[in-house]
Parts: sequence; structure tokens; C-alpha cells
Amino acid sequence: MSNSTASSHQPQRRWLIPAIIAIIFFAGNLASELFGNLIGEIPPSYQWAVWAIIGIALLTTIIAAISEARRADDSSSSTVGNNSEARHGMTISGDIVARDKIVYALQTPAVSALHQLPTPPADFTGRDAELNELMAKLETGGATISGLQGMGGVGKTTLALKLAALLTPRYPDAQLFLDLKGASDKPLSPAEAMAHVIRACHPTAKLPESETELKPLYQSMLHSQRALLLMDNAREAKQVEPLLPPATCCLLVTSRQHFTLPGLYAKDLNTLPPKDAGQLLLTIAPRIGAAAEAIAKLCGYLPQALRLAASALAEQIDLSPADYLRRLENAQTRLGLVEASLNLSYDLLEAETQKW
Ligand SMILES: Nc1ncnc2c1ncn2[C@@H]1O[C@H](COP(=O)(O)OP(=O)(O)OP(=O)(O)O)[C@@H](O)[C@H]1O
Ligand SMILES: [Mg+2]
Repeated sequence: MSNSTASSHQPQRRWLIPAIIAIIFFAGNLASELFGNLIGEIPPSYQWAVWAIIGIALLTTIIAAISEARRADDSSSSTVGNNSEARHGMTISGDIVARDKIVYALQTPAVSALHQLPTPPADFTGRDAELNELMAKLETGGATISGLQGMGGVGKTTLALKLAALLTPRYPDAQLFLDLKGASDKPLSPAEAMAHVIRACHPTAKLPESETELKPLYQSMLHSQRALLLMDNAREAKQVEPLLPPATCCLLVTSRQHFTLPGLYAKDLNTLPPKDAGQLLLTIAPRIGAAAEAIAKLCGYLPQALRLAASALAEQIDLSPADYLRRLENAQTRLGLVEASLNLSYDLLEAETQKW
């Protein structure tokens, strides 16, 4: 999936003008050295004709050299127009397509984005059993597809990022991350998702819009590559099925929905065990101390609720863990378990922190 830049396609002809001047001087001198005496013997009325012939010969040589240089430029740039991708307005370059004996060229230098995975949180806690189970399933080889499914905030994306970080050495060619926006009212279409993947390697490529035309490009780009694709927030099987990569790649999918796909190993993710939940609270806000167990329980052991509660307590240093616990218990008599902890934490957090 190496990506060559196109700067070499731009011919450099800065040498041409000084070269022509040098040729004129050199050839002029040489001509007067060689023929000066001879011409002197020619009757003066014919001398101008000999000089004219020498001048025309020199001029013709220079014009021939310039037009030859131009022809070389044209043939190097016309390779773009001679392939089918160019007819689609696509200008891409790469060794994958070279294998298919297609010549590609870039019009502008571009930076490829082959390593897109966000880093998992430094305070990642627990999930050893799940990681072992998923890694063991991925050992089986072939097209490796794993799905993490479960409710919002349970830690699907975070676990998928951790898993992807462990898998990266096995998939060194590319690690791509894509939010399929399945929980929103505008989920990505398979065509949009394919375009994202292709652009990772060819950022300036003008791509066709239809799924039918994009599919062979998507498959060609991933062909024989050891690439890891993390597709986050899938909506349904229909959205993901056209994106199944060749067998050399690994696909990790997360979704709030439960669905199956050919070759998919689906793992239903649950909340954290109480011990790990308490540990996460203490890692984020050590001052929670002995209240960790009770707060974790009131957060329903849901990682998102745990993180918000611990962040609120880490920020609000005037609020004691015991007070927080009391407020949480009061709120939960009015609202549901997790909803109360989320609401209270959000209220306590600074506006800046609420963004996540
Ligand atoms: N194992 C973990 N260790 C530490 N933090 C975690 C862990 N799992 C989840 N979190 C934290 O919990 C929050 C929610 O996690 P995440 O975004 O992964 O949930 P999700 O299941 O993907 O939710 P959604 O369905 O909304 O996408 C994040 O702030 C994340 O950092
Ligand atoms: Mg998520």
C-alpha cells in the first residue's frame, strides 16, 4: 500500500535556455574557426549565403531539440489519460494497481493516511478475558472479522481500539478507522465508507460515486494487503456486508445492534466486573478511595458512567466522595440507575469536559 508521489512527473526544463545559449556560442565559434579561412576564399558576394546556410542549420538543430523535449513531456503526462481510471477522472498511483498492469499518475503530491487508529485510553482497565477470546478467534486465519456489540457506553469502541493496537504488528500495511455513524440519523452508505478507505491511500483521487464502480477499486486497493479496518458504530449488516475485505485483511466492527455476517465472530459486550469498575474509578480519581465500590455500583458498572463520575470528582475537589454518593442516591430515587449517574456527573463536569 506504498504510495508514490508525483513530483517526478513534473519535467524540469530549467536547463534548456542556458544550454541553447551555450550551443549558439559554441557552434558559432566553431563555425568561424573551421570555416573562417575557407569562407574568406569564397568571393565576397557569395559569403553571406554560406553564413546563412550555417545559421539555418544551427536554428533547425535548436528547434528540433526543443520539440523533442516537448514530445517527451507530453508522453509522460499522457499516461494519465490512457487508463480507465483516468476516464473516470481518477488519478491515482501505487504499487497495488501497478500489479494489475495499469499505469497511474498523481497530479498533485499527497500525503497518505494509512495509520489512522486513535490510541486507546491510557487508563484502559480490565477486559482481559474478552481480549484473549477475540485474539484467539482471530488466530484462526482467513478473512478475520470480529464484531463487538452492546449498549451505548459499554466500551465497544474502546475495546476495539485496544484490540486493534494489539493486532497492528500483524497488519502493518494499514490500520484504518472509520465511524459508520450507525447510531445517527445519517449513517454512512457503503459507497461513502469505501471512498474513505480508498482515500486513505489516494487522498486526491477523484472517485466514482456509485457503489458498483467503487467496489472493484476498494477490493483492488486491499488486495494482498495486510490491512486492519476498524469500522465503528455500524447500523446493520446491510451497511457492512459490501465492505467485507479480502482474506489478507482484518475487519473489526462495533455496533449497538446485534447482527450476523458471513465469517463474523460476534461478541456481546457487558458492563465491567465490579472490581474493574472500582479500579477504573480509582485510576481516574484516586481520592474516591473507599467510596469506589458504592459509586461503581450506582453507575451500573457502565464504563461511560464510571468515567464521567470519576472525572466529575477529579475536577470538583470541593465535593467529597461521600457527598457525591448521597446526591447520586437521591437522584436515583427519581431517575433510573445509570441515567441518574450520567445526569449528575454531567451537571458537575465543566462545560469543556462535557464535550466527550
Ligand atoms: N476498559 C475501559 N477502560 C477504561 N475506560 C473505558 C473502558 N471501556 C470504556 N471506557 C470509557 O468509557 C467511555 C465509553 O466507552 P466507548 O465509547 O468505548 O463506548 P461504546 O460502547 O463504544 O459507546 P457507543 O455505543 O456510544 O459508541 C469512554 O469514555 C471510554 O474511555
Ligand atoms: Mg462507540
